[in-house]
Amino acid sequence: MHKGFLRPVYGSYGVDSLLNILVTGGLGYIGSQACVALVQAGHGVVVLDDLSNSQRSVREQIEKIAGSEIHLEIGDIRDEECLCRLFNEFNFSVVFHFAGLKSPLESVAVPVDYYDCNVNGTLSLLKQMKRSQVKTLVFSSSASVYGIPAEIPVTEKNSVTNPSHPYGRSKLVVENILADLSSADREWRIACLRYFNPVGAHPSGLLGENPQTIPCNLMPYIVRVASGRLEKLSVFGVDYSTVDGTGVRDYIHVQDLVEGHLAALNYLECNSGFITLNLGTGQGVSVLQLIHEFENVTEIKIPFVTTERRAGDVAECWADASLAENMLGWKATRTLADMCRDAWRWEQQCLQKSS
Ligand code: NAD
Ligand code: UD1
Repeated sequence: MHKGFLRPVYGSYGVDSLLNILVTGGLGYIGSQACVALVQAGHGVVVLDDLSNSQRSVREQIEKIAGSEIHLEIGDIRDEECLCRLFNEFNFSVVFHFAGLKSPLESVAVPVDYYDCNVNGTLSLLKQMKRSQVKTLVFSSSASVYGIPAEIPVTEKNSVTNPSHPYGRSKLVVENILADLSSADREWRIACLRYFNPVGAHPSGLLGENPQTIPCNLMPYIVRVASGRLEKLSVFGVDYSTVDGTGVRDYIHVQDLVEGHLAALNYLECNSGFITLNLGTGQGVSVLQLIHEFENVTEIKIPFVTTERRAGDVAECWADASLAENMLGWKATRTLADMCRDAWRWEQQCLQKSS
């Protein structure tokens, strides 16, 4: 048992128990904010991150907000020696598995890298968890497993047979592995959380998403146009049969997403088995609606041009999030205005730091 800041775990799960939790990818956009929430809930947090899409300095921000230390291990989830060392050193009860590659576009160009990191990485982790008898896992899946959804809003019963890209397929392969594992050994407690479109940032302005290249996703692009880092937005397609012709998505505040993870952990403390849940708001928002909301909140005009549809885009996709509400008692509560405000605060903070 580690003698440092991590508190020992006494006995089995219970309302008051403090858990030692391994957070893979804990310096990333979503993982870092999950670390804050876990520390604030009284858990001991160990982050394993290879810095492939994050910076060391995120650790300080986590600790600053949470008011307590975390342990950081720089390493790859595919490094089995590193995993073995960590599991021997810390008495983990739970793993939150965020680490992975996440760009659909990039995954088409380098599919092997995606399957290696996302699938082999998860397998290394599962093998070590099994060796150490750690059988509780919260996994970051994605709405991209649905591909082109047959029904809107998308329920978990929707077919997942045909994701549109290797990234989505890598998430589906992992979901299937986890389902098989749970069938083979009912002691496992596994939650696969299918995120819709996470946006926004920590309300402190200290943690958020900072793409190192030109952003592909809508909200990060909008904030960079607002700050003048990019000149204007291209709206991809205005001829969809949607409310105003532009694409409709389910944007969810990253803090709501994080709360969904804590609710999943509470659920797993009381229930073994395997669950797959959508994490979305259940609200569809068009590109133009998002631009207008951002303009209202920030009083900054977003210049845009309309262009052809982006290849591979669906017209609309939003979640039926009622299963998560029923099973976890969780529901997204933050508004589109909150998402815009927090994303904008974060962008301003990034600019200040870089100037
Ligand atoms: P992110 O890239 O910001 O964070 C991932 C973190 O994992 C990074 O800090 C990166 O350095 C680390 N990492 C990557 N490969 C690693 C490896 N082999 N070993 C150790 N660390 C590694 O991504 P995010 O937006 O925080 O997403 C977290 C998870 O949620 C990912 O699995 C992603 O696929 C999934 N997800 C994200 C979104 C989204 O829009 N952000 C949507 C659906 C699902
Ligand atoms: C993308 C990914 C999806 C992933 C999700 C969340 C693709 C094909 N899909 O989905 O797998 O789960 O992000 O990270 O990459 N838009 C513009 N201009 C822009 C950027 C986007 O008009 O500059 C539009 C898009 O056409 C879409 C909407 O904004 O209608 C949202 O786009 P985006 O943020 O990229 O998310 P998704 O398309 O849902």
